[in-house]
Amino acid sequence: MAELPFATDAIAPRLLAWYSKQGRALPWRQTRDPYRIWLSEIMLQQTTVAAVIGYYQRFLENFPSVEHLAAAPQEAVIDLWAGLGYYARARNLHAAAKMLVEEFGGEFPQTVTELQQLPGVGRSTAGAISALAFERHAPILDGNVRRILCRLFALQQPPRSSAAEKQLWHWAELLTPVADVHDYTQAIMDLGATVCLPRKPLCEDCPLSELCQAREFGLEQQLPLKQKSKPVPIRHEAALLLEKQGKYLVRRRPASGLLGGLWEFPTVSIADGEMAEQKVRLLMSDFAVSGDLRPLGNITHIYSHFRLELQLFQLSIDDFPQVAEAENDWCAAEELSQLALHGAHKKALEKLQGSGE
Ligand code: ADE
Repeated sequence: MAELPFATDAIAPRLLAWYSKQGRALPWRQTRDPYRIWLSEIMLQQTTVAAVIGYYQRFLENFPSVEHLAAAPQEAVIDLWAGLGYYARARNLHAAAKMLVEEFGGEFPQTVTELQQLPGVGRSTAGAISALAFERHAPILDGNVRRILCRLFALQQPPRSSAAEKQLWHWAELLTPVADVHDYTQAIMDLGATVCLPRKPLCEDCPLSELCQAREFGLEQQLPLKQKSKPVPIRHEAALLLEKQGKYLVRRRPASGLLGGLWEFPTVSIADGEMAEQKVRLLMSDFAVSGDLRPLGNITHIYSHFRLELQLFQLSIDDFPQVAEAENDWCAAEELSQLALHGAHKKALEKLQGSGE
């Protein structure tokens, strides 16, 4: 491990003093209830505080305890998550609640190792729960903390590279104090969210600027180094936006599998060499509907493992034969915007609304 440029116990007191003056008062900071802390940490993964607050409060109203959450149908959890994105989190949250009730007797475990057994809880989230709810000496290393540490130590590796991983965890552990670990953990998160910003860090306001190696070498704008992005596979699909009297046909994807439990317009996949419109006509014949298809253009959406190219076709009909499957529904545009549509189909809805339909 590289030699340390400053005494690691110099960090926590500076951060704690800053937090006591500048820290944000957020709803999950007043509690030590592990259920509330876990819920907030899952919601805050890849999502801003401003987007989370309303969802956090609504979830607690609907599911005031882990037992309530475990007893709810998965669809209810997904529907309440609608709009927050990264829906695997909602499925994992529900699965973890069941595990907590069935295997842990409704009690949250306290150690990082045990917490990591819960679906959706990685090492950093486990550290956050252990530190915030139980005051255990557990480091965190989320995206914000990675950025702070890369700058503080002037690390010349991209923050998510395998070369950086061990080093960053080691530093995170060294800097985490034994006392006041709750406030320290909240403080370092706030520093990343409000001062040590990705593009233009506000070094003038930073309690660590005198110690920061990136600042010393004038590298605060260059660090962290960018990760080279890997090429992602592309999938082609076409969606049928089938309209009857101002309502659109949507269906829920199966609970398990890719984008499980989310809503979408009826969709077909397009293999190499296939024509999207012909495939959509096959879908129309499944529904026993006919008429002129109106092309509405294309949508591109990046999911975690692939890029989806989605072509949109609209068809208006007066009459609809019975659709046998139970998971189909007709919804007006304003109802659609409340649904847990997955990303590309949310964009499809926006396009549809923009097209004046
Ligand atoms: N991001 C992740 N966890 C957080 C927390 N507890 N407070 C603010 N932002 C966060």
